[in-house]
Amino acid sequence: MSNWQHQHVIDLASFSLEDFQEVLSLAHRFREMPSTSPRKLPALQGHLVATLFFEPSTRTRSSFELAAKSLSADVQSFAPASSSIGKGESLLDTALTYVAMGADVLVVRHKSTNAAAQLAFDLDKFGEKTSVLNAGDGLHSHPSQGLLDLYTLARHFNPEQPEPEALNGKKIAIVGDILHSRVARSNLWALTACGADVILCGPPTLLPNEFKDFVDAPPPGQKKDPILKRGRIYLTRQLSEALIEADAVMTLRLQHERMRENLISNLHRYHKDYGITHESLKSCKKPIPVLHPGPVNRGVEMSGKLLNDRSISLVEEQVRNGIPTRMALLYLITS
Ligand code: CP
Repeated sequence: MSNWQHQHVIDLASFSLEDFQEVLSLAHRFREMPSTSPRKLPALQGHLVATLFFEPSTRTRSSFELAAKSLSADVQSFAPASSSIGKGESLLDTALTYVAMGADVLVVRHKSTNAAAQLAFDLDKFGEKTSVLNAGDGLHSHPSQGLLDLYTLARHFNPEQPEPEALNGKKIAIVGDILHSRVARSNLWALTACGADVILCGPPTLLPNEFKDFVDAPPPGQKKDPILKRGRIYLTRQLSEALIEADAVMTLRLQHERMRENLISNLHRYHKDYGITHESLKSCKKPIPVLHPGPVNRGVEMSGKLLNDRSISLVEEQVRNGIPTRMALLYLITS
């Protein structure tokens, strides 16, 4: 019996351990479906899922659309460049247009922090039953990425039972442009809630000292973060220090498009100090997997050679796991 209570998925701060458990267990069932099963499940037959992406995306948009189709939903993509946004139509009016056309779920990516939360609030106020799934809002949150990363890690540590408990007591290093990363924030919420310690590593310009306080801050619209954070958060500037005890490392893309000033001296130096390579992984006490949410700047956050090394890199696994994880989310919010 499901305890799922979320009509919208905006961030992972409001997720309980049971919510993480439910998503991972369902994602695993979808991922492990026998090859003899029908290609499409009927769960979302008659539902319309609209993908409203106001920022570029390859993985998130395609995997949400493939996930929706795998559950037999109808899918409508919105292309901002050729839309009435150019005539001044707002996000809310665009969303209401899709609601009027029958959308049950809006998957929304937007450059503004809080855009998905505001939209969900406004739709509720209008009395609409449509769900909003945040597919990335500014610097704030990318919950489906945090969940697919959680599933990928849980599956790595315990392939038979990839549950949140598989993360309990693990040390996960997150390296790079943490300041601009909604993926880092979503992973912080998910990993610490599941009992993992997180070691944040990057230069001071991309990882301000105050970042440690972020996870304790209340999410938008809430007075207090309801989750008891079980894991601890550490900060270091030294990659070797972040890696030495780590059980896994996640490296992040340098988000040049969000950098208003020059926050690193040069890419070559950045790669030398923070790039994940076969050489830098020699700091680890044991062999560990490497994750990256993508898209990767090869030779900057990680070497191309390491990205292609499937014995270490879980990047393709993350992409593969994106579909069953998003199927789980779509299934749960429409049930
Ligand atoms: N990880 C991620 O969000 O990738 P896309 O921007 O390609 O969706």
